[in-house]
Amino acid sequence: MNRPTRLRNNGVIRGLVRETSLSMDDVIYPIFVVEGEGVKREIPSMKNQFHLSVDMLDEEVGVFKSKGIKSLLIFGTPGYKDHKASSAFDCDGIVQRAVRKIKEIDSEMLVITDVCLCQYKDDGHCCVYHKNIQIDRETTLEILRQVALSHALAGADMVAPSDMMDGRVGHIRKVLDDSGFEHVSIMSYSAKYASSFYGPFREAAHSVPSFGDRKMYQMDIGNSKEAMKEMALDVMEGADILMVKPAQLYLDIIKKAEERFDLPIAAYQVSGEYAMIYNAVEGGYLDRRAIYESLLAIKRSGASIVISYFAKELKALIELYG
Ligand code: PBG
Repeated sequence: MNRPTRLRNNGVIRGLVRETSLSMDDVIYPIFVVEGEGVKREIPSMKNQFHLSVDMLDEEVGVFKSKGIKSLLIFGTPGYKDHKASSAFDCDGIVQRAVRKIKEIDSEMLVITDVCLCQYKDDGHCCVYHKNIQIDRETTLEILRQVALSHALAGADMVAPSDMMDGRVGHIRKVLDDSGFEHVSIMSYSAKYASSFYGPFREAAHSVPSFGDRKMYQMDIGNSKEAMKEMALDVMEGADILMVKPAQLYLDIIKKAEERFDLPIAAYQVSGEYAMIYNAVEGGYLDRRAIYESLLAIKRSGASIVISYFAKELKALIELYG
C-alpha cells in the first residue's frame, strides 16, 4: 500500500525528502536611510524596522552581517523633494552616501538600490506628469537614467527600477553600459502590482501620492498574463533578474514566471505582508514558525530570491525550523 506517511516518520527522513529549504544566500534585506546623525528610529508602521542615518551604518552593517545578511536593498528618505526628483540623482544624496558608506565598511556586502522617483518628488509619484493627467515618459526616463547612473557611480552592485515606466530597463542598461558600468546588474520590478499592501512602506518612505493613485503605471491586481508580458519585455531590454511584487499574495505569478523564464525570479514580501504576519505573531495569534513558512512558501512557488524585512530574523528561524 502506498503510504506517504512512511517518509514522515522522523526528522531525518523528512529532511531527506524535503524539496525546498531556505538559506541566507536567498535573501535580500531592505533598509531605510534618512538624513541626520545618530538616528535609529523605529518605523511606526513597520515594527522592528528602523530609519537609520548614514553614520549609524558603521554599527548596523556589522549587525546585519552577524545575522547572516549578505545583500541589502537601499531606500532613501531624502532631505528635500522637488518636481524633478533632484535629490534622487544628487551624487551627495542620501542613497549615494549610504552606498559609499556600506561599501567602505564592508566591500563584500552586495548593495542594491531602489531606482524610483516617488520618495524624491514633491507629489509622491513615481513619474513626472504632464498637467497631472498624463505620464511624461520621456522626462521620467531621463531622470531614471540619471538616478541609476548616480547609484552605479556611488558603487552599487545592482540597481532595481521600481517605477514601472515602459522601456526603463533598456534605457538604464544603455546608460550603464555607455558609462563603463557593464558589470552593474539590473533587478527589474517587472510585475509590480497596484497593491494595497505598500501602505506601511509609504508611511516609512514618506511617499504617499498627493493626488490620484499609482494605477496608471502599476499593474492591475486582477492580471496574470500581463505580468508575463511585462517580464518578457524586461528580458528583451536586458534585465538580469525579474521580480514579482508583492509576493505572498502573488504566488501564482511567481510560479508562472519561474516556469516561463530562464532568469532568476525574485519576489518581494512587501511592507503590508510583513506587518500582517509580524503583528499576528507579536499579538500571539500565530507562532513564530509562521514567519518561516511565509518565506518558504515564496521560495517553493519558484522564487530563488526573497526580499523580506524578516531577513534579519531568518538565520535564527532556519536554526529553529529549517
Ligand atoms: C517605490 C517602492 C515602493 C515599494 C518599493 N519601492 C512603494 C510604492 O510603489 O508605492 C514598496 C515596498 C513595500 O511595501 O515594502 N516605488
